[in-house]
Amino acid sequence: MAASPLPRWAPTPSPTRPLRVSSASQTAISSCSSWTVCSSLSSIFVPLFRRSAPPLPVDAPANGVDDDGDRVGCHPLDCVGARKRGHHPQEASPMVFLTWEDLTVTASSGRGNRAVILDRLSGCARPGEVLALMGPSGCGKTTLLDALAGRLGTDKKRTGDILINGRREKLAFGTSAYVTQETLLMATLTVSEAVHCSAQLQLPDTVPAAEKRARADRAIRQMGLATVAGSRIGGRVCKGISGGQRRRVSICVELLASPALVFLDEPTGGLDSAASLHVMGRIASLAREERMTVVAAVHQPSSEVFGLFHGLCLLAYGKMVYFGPAADAIEFFDANGYPCPLRRNPSDHFLTMINKDFEELEEGTTLTLPRAAEVIQTLVDSLISQRGSGMKNEAFTIKEGAPLAKKRQATFLTKCAVLTRRSCTNMHRDAGYYWLRFGIYIGICLSIGTIFFNVGNSFASIQARASMLMFTSTLLTMMSIGGFPSFVEDMKIFRKEQLNGHYDATAFVISNTLSSTPYLGIISIIPGAIAYYLTGLQRGFDHFVYFAAVLWACTMLVEGLMMIVAAIVPDFLLGIITGSGMQGLLMLNAGFFRLPSDLPKPIWKYPTYYMSYHKYATQGLYKNEFLGLAFEDLGGRGLTLNGEYILKTYLQVEMGYSKWVDLAILLAMVLIYRVLFLVTIKVGEALKPMINCISVKV
Ligand SMILES: Nc1ncnc2c1ncn2[C@@H]1O[C@H](COP(=O)(O)OP(=O)(O)O)[C@@H](O)[C@H]1O
Ligand SMILES: [Mg+2]
Repeated sequence: MAASPLPRWAPTPSPTRPLRVSSASQTAISSCSSWTVCSSLSSIFVPLFRRSAPPLPVDAPANGVDDDGDRVGCHPLDCVGARKRGHHPQEASPMVFLTWEDLTVTASSGRGNRAVILDRLSGCARPGEVLALMGPSGCGKTTLLDALAGRLGTDKKRTGDILINGRREKLAFGTSAYVTQETLLMATLTVSEAVHCSAQLQLPDTVPAAEKRARADRAIRQMGLATVAGSRIGGRVCKGISGGQRRRVSICVELLASPALVFLDEPTGGLDSAASLHVMGRIASLAREERMTVVAAVHQPSSEVFGLFHGLCLLAYGKMVYFGPAADAIEFFDANGYPCPLRRNPSDHFLTMINKDFEELEEGTTLTLPRAAEVIQTLVDSLISQRGSGMKNEAFTIKEGAPLAKKRQATFLTKCAVLTRRSCTNMHRDAGYYWLRFGIYIGICLSIGTIFFNVGNSFASIQARASMLMFTSTLLTMMSIGGFPSFVEDMKIFRKEQLNGHYDATAFVISNTLSSTPYLGIISIIPGAIAYYLTGLQRGFDHFVYFAAVLWACTMLVEGLMMIVAAIVPDFLLGIITGSGMQGLLMLNAGFFRLPSDLPKPIWKYPTYYMSYHKYATQGLYKNEFLGLAFEDLGGRGLTLNGEYILKTYLQVEMGYSKWVDLAILLAMVLIYRVLFLVTIKVGEALKPMINCISVKV
């Protein structure tokens, strides 16, 4: 067959990725003593990263010291003035040279066996460049990203080294960002609100508000989201923008503050080819301008998108079949006997050659592809033979980069204020959070009011009053379970943002408490007033205020309890069952269904009765209602029973202290439950590495 006159596909120099460095820059590099270290690193994976460093910005600080004199890092590449943080020098953070060596990840495959997910991978990612992780589905791209980002699950065990600027160190809070495959955004916010909030959280207070806004607007435009800026993101609550647009919002939010290291899991998932090109182009140019180190797992890039990658790490079933400049991959396949056909997208060719999932299906067909297992073995052997054996340890001798400093962010107070505002907006717009409950409370309180209407002072009214008070307080608290799906969603968003260093657990707990307080106030006071006045409970505004205050404290308290459950049991169905079970148990021991003296002493009286907030709520409400009233005796013999006598004998209320003590105990419990919520999150974080450690030893 005659050779096609058309040229074979070849990578074109990308505008974001010049192939040659200027002679001036070359001089700068050779004059820097540290560069020898950099160059030895870049020669680890022969012929990996043969491409020279991108052109160097002339205005970048050369000494790694920020405006305030703080050291912002002195990675070897810093000395060539590489990192450019255009807008605010105080935002500068050190560049990250990420290296991994002999990285192996295994997971339990049952009966004490462990399956190898990643098999002795080595590689590096450099500042200013985009390293693409490619391979067939299930080859280990997400696992590699998780391992590099320090987010492997407790069921996985990792061996090998991961170095940051030549050091075994943890990434400082806020230094890296990870855009996961799952898009987690607050559904009720508009695109513009989500990005603006994120800018306020991530950018330091020294950046003027107008600039934060301008930066967020620019990011929205650059991600092609200007037309949907005013639309709700959507999700469980409402339809909102498309999946691809949501994906772009996630990327936009994470790249806003130009983190030094960015992990992207399938950033182009759900995007059409034009959108993929624009988004990846934006990421590549941001990486170059801001000297970010980008590692992106990409599934099936178009040839244009492929042309944007600087490095390529090609995986097949946990093994590395290629690591090096993306542009040299074709040559590598060609040299090993697997040339890319004319005009074929190189990524299609690579993935077709190394995918063995469908080989059995292909038997008997006219397809004449070499067996993928052979291809993989040939490429793996070839890659290993290309590596200089002496190079292995060289990467680990680098000790020149300063430890990564924590990036400057908004102050704690600003974060609390922004989060409170955002949470208030979400609670207001998500009908399932409070408004639905509010409507149902109104309906139920109207029902209570009509069933117990004008209860009077007969002997029977004693039982009616006690039942009404018990029911109103427990129903209002039980209904908090209805908001559980919203809590779980809040927790997921919090965990994602916390892992990416936007804010910490304390800011989240404070803002959540502050934002829920007024809503819980409204849903305690208005339905409470309907039930109170229709039933004809004790007159006097102070009595109603006390009644509403107890309801409000109970709802606050139960919300805290449900947040603790949401932090421990992230699945909402399991959480609802657990939460309602706990509440039912506490209610049972409150001294209403079984009088306190009749409760079995071990467990039920001590300690459960004293731990049950229903005990303090009902006893406070009883004192508020019965003290000062007199009731007709049974049989209407003209005798009267005073409230104090009823409290002591019929209801067995502890009369040694006033109703205000009961309220104070409830308020203390509100605080304790919120602190417990914070402790649960913190302990969960602290236990994670320990659990990892234990699972590694097993
Ligand atoms: N927790 C786990 N236990 C056992 N196997 C796992 C676990 N997580 C992932 N795997 C397996 O590891 C392989 C790689 O998964 P993943 O990194 O998600 O692949 P990719 O992102 O390339 O599609 C898959 O075959 C998957 O089934
Ligand atoms: Mg994946």
